[in-house]
Amino acid sequence: MIFIKNLKKSLGGKKVLDGVNLHVKKGEILVIMGRSGEGKSVLLKLIIGLLAPDSGSIYIDGIDITSLNEKELNDVRKRFGMLFQSAALFDYMTVLGNVGFSYVEHTNLRSCEIRNLVEEKLEMVDLKDVIDKKPNELSGGMKKRVGLARAIAMNPKIMLYDEPTTGLDPITGKTIDELIVRLKKKLSTTGVAVTHDLKSAFRIADRIAFLDKGKIVGIYRPDKINEAKEEIVRKFISQ
Ligand SMILES: Nc1ncnc2c1ncn2[C@@H]1O[C@H](COP(=O)(O)OP(=O)(O)O)[C@@H](O)[C@H]1O
Ligand SMILES: [Mg+2]
Repeated sequence: MIFIKNLKKSLGGKKVLDGVNLHVKKGEILVIMGRSGEGKSVLLKLIIGLLAPDSGSIYIDGIDITSLNEKELNDVRKRFGMLFQSAALFDYMTVLGNVGFSYVEHTNLRSCEIRNLVEEKLEMVDLKDVIDKKPNELSGGMKKRVGLARAIAMNPKIMLYDEPTTGLDPITGKTIDELIVRLKKKLSTTGVAVTHDLKSAFRIADRIAFLDKGKIVGIYRPDKINEAKEEIVRKFISQ
């Protein structure tokens, strides 16, 4: 589904990614773990084409997106849903406006149809009676759910999650993780999630890839990661 070959990217004079190789299988959730500032968010931005690499390839469904122009990239991006770290909601819009944004941009649906679709997506993330509220009236966990509802609006094939539970209390974080797993099964999506939250990784990952010093140092099954030979991974999981 996603195939990354020798991906390199420098930012601000620093080599952030230094030859990343990675294969995400259809239907799995691959979690990318690593210390803060190691380039996890940068990697997600490269996968969705928000940043261009210095060299290397990113194949999505067999198409190398690094060779596409902006219009072609936009078509590929429609296959993605992305949940950003901050949920990144528009504060001046209601939940209806936020979740329905893509329908307004990309379809000719009437407003009553959009409202029905938005209600349907909100139901999928267990939210009720929030459609006419503004983000500042919602808790952190609810904002994440609204962000999730927006991410799944266009029925994406691939979901990208940037630190889905960071900043949430442990119980709310757990419910978001459970929702991510449930949505994956229900919508048959492939997922890439980045996090430094080990508990969260164990809950959602089919496989865990570890990013360090610009490279993937290993890929592990969650139940086998404690057998990792790599020093940095051992340190990380024994924290
Ligand atoms: N737009 C940018 N300009 C310059 N440096 C950046 C930019 N985005 C990220 N970086 C740098 O790239 C590195 C990786 O950042 P990031 O991917 O956000 O790390 P994380 O693994 O915590 O998500 C950091 O050193 C960060 O300062
Ligand atoms: Mg990040």
